[in-house]
Amino acid sequence: MADVTVRAPAKINLHLEVLGLRPDGYHELAMVMQSIDLADTLVLRSTADATIRLRSDSPELPSDGTNLIVRAAELLRSRVGLPELGVDITLHKRIPIGAGLAGGSSDGAAALVGLDALWGLSLGTARLHGLAAALGSDMPFCLEGGTQLCFGRGERLEPVTAAGAPGQAVLLIKHPEASVSTPWAYGRCRDLRGDFYLDAEEDFEQRRQALRRGPLVAALAGQGPLPHLRNDLQAVVEPEVESIRAGLDLLRRGPGVLAVAMSGSGPSLFALHPDLATAEAARAALAEPLAALGFVAWCCRCGGSGVSLVTDGS
Ligand code: C5P
Repeated sequence: MADVTVRAPAKINLHLEVLGLRPDGYHELAMVMQSIDLADTLVLRSTADATIRLRSDSPELPSDGTNLIVRAAELLRSRVGLPELGVDITLHKRIPIGAGLAGGSSDGAAALVGLDALWGLSLGTARLHGLAAALGSDMPFCLEGGTQLCFGRGERLEPVTAAGAPGQAVLLIKHPEASVSTPWAYGRCRDLRGDFYLDAEEDFEQRRQALRRGPLVAALAGQGPLPHLRNDLQAVVEPEVESIRAGLDLLRRGPGVLAVAMSGSGPSLFALHPDLATAEAARAALAEPLAALGFVAWCCRCGGSGVSLVTDGS
């Protein structure tokens, strides 16, 4: 059988609201996630033996059972009861690692889709979503992509039908030395704001309705200006990490900027721009101070789907 190639795009959070703490220890969230056209590529090839092998062009990335790609392959193989299946996976890494851009989750979701095709399983969307949710809160979004409201612990999706999202492109920056652990960011949020968490389902639903009917979703449908972007994890991480404060300040100074925020639990930061040309112009205008502070910068378009098969092995 021929190789299967899968594209695994990154995401940013246009809204991240922590509603409360659930009995399972996860946080109840109300988010808007947006795919961007910065993507990793996975190439999958069947092997004669039953081993799951991963190699990547990124030396700092683990290729053992701690990698979501390997965990996805192991889970899929055991759920379908075919332990004799093997695969060789090559990962071409473009999404920055540990950045709040769901690079690892998107790679894991891409492994599910790629192996479904390579091993001829035809599992269907619902089963793939179930497997994705079992592996990570962001993974169902990574399967689906686009612009989605994400509720629950992030796995309950409602598409935002955006006729013309005003944020057509982002200037994305990351400091190579900044790193934020996601469990730490949520733990900090709990310590600082836990007394104000909501705890009744009807209160959660009220906040979901406020988001569905609020100015951000209207703006994404081209009906009004983009509001200030809310990320509750940014509110707890920003005071702790100097480079995040400096990066946000810089992005706000970019010409033509619509809004600025941290993505997920960080440390990636983004500025939304009306189009790619404006984002590129802002990168050029800020090139000197960004380089002086050591930031790496990318310009990407918003939109596109989630993980997708580039070649299906036939
Ligand atoms: O689901 P995932 O493994 O990606 O989550 C990583 C960590 O982020 C969790 O272990 C938890 O500490 C935190 N988290 C949370 N509430 C969520 C999602 C993640 O507290 N809804």
